[in-house]
Amino acid sequence: MSTKQQLLVYLKEGKGTWVSGEFLAHKIAVSRSAVWKHIASLKDDGYVIESSRKKGYLFRRTSDLLLADEIREGLSTNVLGKGEISYFRETDSTNTRAKYLANEGAPEGTVVVAEKQTQGRGRRGRTWFSPPGGGIYTSIILRPPIPPNEAPKLTLLTSVALAEALLSLTALKVKIKWPNDILIKGRKVAGILTEISTEMDRIGYVIIGVGVNVNTPREGLSPDIADTATSVLMETGKVFPRIVLLRAFLEWLEIYYEAFKTKGFDPILSRWKHLADIIGRRIRVDLMDDVRTGKVLDVDKDGFLILQDRKGTIERIISGDVTLLGQE
Ligand code: BTN
Repeated sequence: MSTKQQLLVYLKEGKGTWVSGEFLAHKIAVSRSAVWKHIASLKDDGYVIESSRKKGYLFRRTSDLLLADEIREGLSTNVLGKGEISYFRETDSTNTRAKYLANEGAPEGTVVVAEKQTQGRGRRGRTWFSPPGGGIYTSIILRPPIPPNEAPKLTLLTSVALAEALLSLTALKVKIKWPNDILIKGRKVAGILTEISTEMDRIGYVIIGVGVNVNTPREGLSPDIADTATSVLMETGKVFPRIVLLRAFLEWLEIYYEAFKTKGFDPILSRWKHLADIIGRRIRVDLMDDVRTGKVLDVDKDGFLILQDRKGTIERIISGDVTLLGQE
């Protein structure tokens, strides 16, 4: 344990009482001025600690930041987040960081988290506006033993895990929009960007990138999505602890990922279908440079959309942006 971690243990154990600098210095076997320096650094990390020349230090509140040690505390996973959690106050994109780590050989379960992204990426070449404070921006490295053509299943699996995390912690009516947007009352609260690296006929690694608008106020949303996006704060009127949601997401993701490896994709797909409520609906799908409209017959075992147009032609759609047109 680092000196800072040890200090936190003793301060938290103080449970609302003052802990003297002398006691801390003695326990950790450092000088009192070293204690002071480390406390200053903890305050910089967002921990609220009072200092008094006479009484020492009083732990008031844990940090609001998504610090690696705080994420780990109480995290009930076996693999995800159990190894390295790479934390950034600011980075270009957690997916880019995670790719770099994966290329360097980082194991499955490695997590990257940032408070702010300067080049957050969305699906289909879009940007993901990532201001500090309200959002979760995280990427997880997986190394699944599956062929590359099964990778889309992991995106659906992730959307189910993210929806479950929100459903288990809030009373919000959370839905999935194919393939992997998370909506509340028709507005997007979270998005997923999955990127894969293949080696011959197998997957080298998958980066699961997730962005969630948690405590983002309306004015904190980028103007171009202000009408189509929402946040947990906007829906509930309450600030929600981001770290609790992040932990729950990692836990649900591990549950579904393990289930996928041991029991296959069918149970996950049926949960996805329930949460997506898209089958039988008339939709419009914007493809890269074309548009389709039709009725959704099914989402097949690979996670592709089966669409039937008015003439009865059936098409299998791999990727696109869906707009609901109403039910037939
Ligand atoms: C979408 O377009 O809906 C996907 C958005 C994915 C955003 C997340 S934020 C963390 C990770 N890093 C990125 O650059 N993108 C993903």
